[in-house]
Amino acid sequence: MSEITEKKTILSGIQPSGDLTLGSYLGAIKNWVELSEEYNCFYCIVDMHSITVRQNPAELRKRTLAQLAQYIASGLDPEKNTIFIQSHVSAHAELSWVLSCYTMFGELSRMTQFKDKSAKNADNINAGLFTYPSLMAADILLYQADLVPVGGDQKQHVELTRDIANRFNGIYGDVFTVPEPFIPKVGARIMSLTTPENKMSKSDKDPGGCIYIMQKPEEIMRSFKRAVTDSETCVRYDPENKPGISNLMSIYSVAAGKTFEEIENEFAGKGYGDFKVRVGESVVEMLRPIREESERILKDKAYVEQVYREGAARASYVANKTLRKVYKKVGFVAK
Ligand code: TYM
Repeated sequence: MSEITEKKTILSGIQPSGDLTLGSYLGAIKNWVELSEEYNCFYCIVDMHSITVRQNPAELRKRTLAQLAQYIASGLDPEKNTIFIQSHVSAHAELSWVLSCYTMFGELSRMTQFKDKSAKNADNINAGLFTYPSLMAADILLYQADLVPVGGDQKQHVELTRDIANRFNGIYGDVFTVPEPFIPKVGARIMSLTTPENKMSKSDKDPGGCIYIMQKPEEIMRSFKRAVTDSETCVRYDPENKPGISNLMSIYSVAAGKTFEEIENEFAGKGYGDFKVRVGESVVEMLRPIREESERILKDKAYVEQVYREGAARASYVANKTLRKVYKKVGFVAK
């Protein structure tokens, strides 16, 4: 136990609003696994965030459990990491309310994810979509996280979390640890394979643009073979002028553990066809064990249930300690 408390803390989460994508795997989960030995880690499935966009209830439940199995199959040992479902720890909703009173309307209005999602869901611009970052700040601050490993698109939310924590600490003393984002150098922004100027996203309307970690190898290969490139025939990293090739190079770099220079040398004088096949194969090789292990874990319902129950108990213990401190600071009468 003393070993755990001496380690620094990590918290991160992914919405179960769609199947897990290669973008989330390379931008977030892969780093969660790499950091998990060194840190005291809390990894959640943020189901409460996902209802800011309308969900099919049965599918949401199914995807939440599948995502839990995929976290474990990716290499997160539930004995060493606290893996839990956000809605099982009520402190998230409670702290979110308090923090929303310390988050400014102007700050929330500037959030890129809010602007994007309001444009995509013009008939459902609900209050939760707007105050989403206060809930995300609660997720992070409840655990006094030092580090938040995320893809580049979440940097703005982590920065707002820092501002909220500093504002609160400025009024009430040192209540919250001010977290740092951890964004990978390569893989922070994986782009769509068909429209490489857009982020690879689980809500992508074009099925060929997005790779899912549970997808069959032949489907993955088909999408890579069809990936949009350019009219040159040179494998060279230049995201501005060659977004498609540069995206494939980023994917290959992380999947195969190679530098951009090594990749450029490997494919010097070869056509894009060979390159796309090799990138596809490296992704298939990387994802195969995760898919097979997830399928095996998901069949063991009792084990899955045990993991999320124990995870929620461990997370609640830590989260409630912070919540009690916050309630006392703001002037609520203790129970
Ligand atoms: P979400 O669910 O959209 O994405 C989950 C994680 O995957 C990263 N990611 C990507 N990285 C690289 N390239 C991509 N194409 C790509 N797509 C997604 C995201 O940056 C993220 O790290 N608000 C968060 C979820 C959240 C959270 C938290 C994260 C809620 N509470 C607390 C950290 C800490 C979100 O919508 O991520």
